[in-house]
Amino acid sequence: MSGEPDDFAELIASLDPAMAVVTTVSDRERAGCLIGFHAQSSIDPARYVVWLSKANHTFRVGVHARYFGVHFLGEGDLELARLFGTESGDDVDKFGHRAWEPGPEGLPLLAECTHRFTATRVALLDEGGDHVCLVLQPVEVAPAAPFRPLRLSRTTHLNPGHESKERPEPVTERAP
Ligand SMILES: Cc1cc2nc3c(=O)[nH]c(=O)nc-3n(C[C@H](O)[C@H](O)[C@H](O)COP(=O)(O)O)c2cc1C
Repeated sequence: MSGEPDDFAELIASLDPAMAVVTTVSDRERAGCLIGFHAQSSIDPARYVVWLSKANHTFRVGVHARYFGVHFLGEGDLELARLFGTESGDDVDKFGHRAWEPGPEGLPLLAECTHRFTATRVALLDEGGDHVCLVLQPVEVAPAAPFRPLRLSRTTHLNPGHESKERPEPVTERAP
């Protein structure tokens, strides 16, 4: 890539994407984190992609999961962004701190986030980067209503619960 890596980061950040919280559940546990990497990727059939950091608890649960909830945050949801973006399910039960209702297979849906949809995973793509791409097929979509999204520029002071370079501990006993 020509140009500085910071130039790329600044160019993309200048798009100021809307922030979302993605939740999921496997047979053993619930998970969810704040995401800025997400987009619609097909009209017909409807598809939505989210990218999960390999460092995150949500990724580790999501690998085994069928259902996902995508919640678009509104301007007043900064505290929700802080909880889901700076705390890790490795250390805390985020769902013990907020009201949620169970969706399919117990998928946690955040009660205060009405701009949301539930989806099943149709593909998982790993091209070797620090995030994996989940391709989602919407199954239940909340009725559309106008709202003002919480944008990346309002959240840049938040320190992620896991940096993207982190890998889960403990390593195996065989590791040096
Ligand atoms: C502004 C901001 C944007 C983020 N975007 C993403 C993202 O797109 N994908 C992702 O997997 N993590 C993203 N994160 C990081 C996770 O939300 C964060 O590490 C979280 O604490 C992980 O929680 P978990 O370990 O419970 O999954 C972002 C964090 C912040 C503060």
